[in-house]
Amino acid sequence: MKTIVGGLLCILACSTAIADGDAAVGKSKTLLCSGCHTRDGNSKNPEYPVLASQGQAYMVKQILDFKSGARKEMHMTPLVEAISNADIPDITAYFSSQMRKQNSAPPPTSDLGKQIFLSGNSAKPVSPCSGCHGEDGKGNAVLKFPSLAGQHADYIVKMLKEFRSGTRSNDKNALMRNIAMDLDDKEIEALAAFITAMR
Ligand code: HEC
Ligand code: HEC
Repeated sequence: MKTIVGGLLCILACSTAIADGDAAVGKSKTLLCSGCHTRDGNSKNPEYPVLASQGQAYMVKQILDFKSGARKEMHMTPLVEAISNADIPDITAYFSSQMRKQNSAPPPTSDLGKQIFLSGNSAKPVSPCSGCHGEDGKGNAVLKFPSLAGQHADYIVKMLKEFRSGTRSNDKNALMRNIAMDLDDKEIEALAAFITAMR
C-alpha cells in the first residue's frame, strides 16, 4: 500500500522535486564539503555519511535541521552556518545526481538483518524497513525517506542508536525513534551489515 501511495505521489510531484536546484552550479559550491564527504559524495571515512545519490529533499531537510538545531552533531552544526540558504538546492542537487559507488563490504554473515529489513519482527513489533526505505534500500525521494543501500555500516549503527536513545530526534512523528526503540544491539549490527552490502 505504501509503495502504491509513494508511486502516485511520485507521478504528481517527482518531476518538480528533482528540478529544484542546478547540479552543475552546485558542484562549484562543494569544496567545503569535500574534505569529509569527498568531491562526489562517496565519502571513504565511515564517520561521514555517503551523500552521493541521496534524495535531494531529504538532504535539504537535514541541512535545515542542522541549521535550526533540530539535529545536532559536532562537525555539521558549526559548518552549516557557512551554507547560505540560496545555495542549498544547488549543492543537494549536485550530490543527489552523483552515482553511489560500490563499497567493499563483505556479504552479511547471518540472515537476521535481511529478515528484519524485509519482514520486520512481529514479536516486538518492528515494522519492515522496506515499507519506507524500499526493498532495494534506495528510499523514496519524494517522501524524504533516505536511501540507505551501500551507506557506511558504522554510520547506520550510530544513527539507529541515536534514534533509540533520542539523541537524534528530527524524525517527523518519531517514525524512526518508535522503530529503533525496539531494536537491540545485535539487531542493529545485523541491519547495518545487511544495509551496507546492499547494491
Ligand atoms: C568536518 C567534516 C564535514 C564537513 C566539512 C561536511 N560534513 Fe556533512 N556530515 C559530517 C558528519 C560527521 C555527518 C553525520 C552527522 C551525524 O553523525 O549525525 C554529516 C552529515 C551530513 C548530512 C546528512 C546526511 C544523512 O544521511 O542524514 C548532509 C546532507 C551533509 N552532511 C551535507 C554536507 C554539505 C552539503 C557539506 C558542505 C557544505 C558538508 N556536509 C560538509 C561531516 C562533515
Ligand atoms: C514508517 C517509515 C519508516 C520505516 C518503517 C523505517 N524508517 Fe528509517 N527513516 C524514516 C525516515 C522518515 C527517516 C528520516 C528522518 C528525518 O527526516 O531525519 C529515516 C531515517 C533512517 C536512518 C538514517 C539515515 C541517514 O542517512 O541518516 C536510518 C539508518 C534508518 N532510517 C534505518 C531504518 C531501519 C534499519 C528500519 C527498519 C528496522 C527503518 N529505518 C524503518 C522512515 C522509516
